[in-house]
Amino acid sequence: MALKNVLALVVLLGVVGVSFVKAYDNSESNPERYNPGTTGNLYNDYYGNKCTNVEEIVRNVTYQYVSANPTLAAALLRMHFHDCFVRGCDGSVLIKSPNNDAERDAVPNLTLRGYEVVEAAKAALEIACPGVVSCADVLALVARDAVFYIDGPWWPVPLGRRDGRISNISDANSLPSPFANVETLKKNFADKGLNTKDLVVLSGAHTIGVSSCALINRRIYNFTGKGDFDPAMDPNYVKILKERCPPTDFTTSVDMDPTSADKFDSHYFDAVYQNKGLFISDSTLLKDSYTKFYILQQAVLNLNTFNDDFLDSMVKLGFVGILTGDQGEIRNKCDRIN
Ligand code: HEM
Repeated sequence: MALKNVLALVVLLGVVGVSFVKAYDNSESNPERYNPGTTGNLYNDYYGNKCTNVEEIVRNVTYQYVSANPTLAAALLRMHFHDCFVRGCDGSVLIKSPNNDAERDAVPNLTLRGYEVVEAAKAALEIACPGVVSCADVLALVARDAVFYIDGPWWPVPLGRRDGRISNISDANSLPSPFANVETLKKNFADKGLNTKDLVVLSGAHTIGVSSCALINRRIYNFTGKGDFDPAMDPNYVKILKERCPPTDFTTSVDMDPTSADKFDSHYFDAVYQNKGLFISDSTLLKDSYTKFYILQQAVLNLNTFNDDFLDSMVKLGFVGILTGDQGEIRNKCDRIN
């Protein structure tokens, strides 16, 4: 095919792709419209004179921690996601149970890190304005600031979430599994009022951070029980992963974005496009026409919309299942109910 025709095809794909995405995109630019399955609303200046410097106080503490350990950015982003997907963004993931039966004791949450950052930000707020700012809001702000600190996108965090008083280990079953296929993932997200675009965009969070070898062992060593690997994976990538994760190694960490796990960029989509998605839940995004097209747009057509899309979807995520008004409480300490 002549170069001219190739270029025309790329332009056409871009145009078709944009309208395809628009058709699925039910978001608008005003944060007030994000209200998936909630009863209340959130506001940009919610704390007003009750706590004038909330954002600054949280930002200072977060930057202090993330500058000392930039890997906390990934951990805190994941923590906010895990909070929102279980009983809504109500800070319930932060609660400790003496019986080890709270959300944070559930298997997917055992690798959460960064609780100390949320605790420190909350402690600083308790000095400035005691009993005013919820832990759920603190976590939402900390996640945003941590990602921004490592040069990721900034998104607005409307405030006013109240803290939940319940945290059950079994509720963490609503977290999506790394072994899930795209249909299940779409349902997991739809159950939270999030659409297919949110699924593929938020999966892009895997452009930063790490997993443990345990979670990919079967995929690379014994996919169907015959000593094989998942044929959906690039064999050369499997080879690299095997070097990193020997068969009996369940603890070493492995980068989720093979080229730049410490940078918030769109390389996650390049990786998935090249069959280098680390989890089945990443690779499976090539099996749905919508999510596949989004990946193509970022990886091949270089539409560069990921940061803006991520911002939109993060705002939506922050509204999932929120408690507002006189629901829940404002916890004094984030790891226990009052
Ligand atoms: C689509 C469904 C998703 C699945 C199945 C999934 C699964 C996982 C798993 C299994 C890990 C590795 C954890 C470990 O080593 O124990 C992980 C890490 C991570 N996830 Fe996801 N995830 C999903 C979506 C998301 C979303 C929506 C976000 C944020 C918006 C997110 C952010 C992260 C981050 C940043 C890490 C790295 C954490 C670190 O380095 O400590 N994930 N995810």
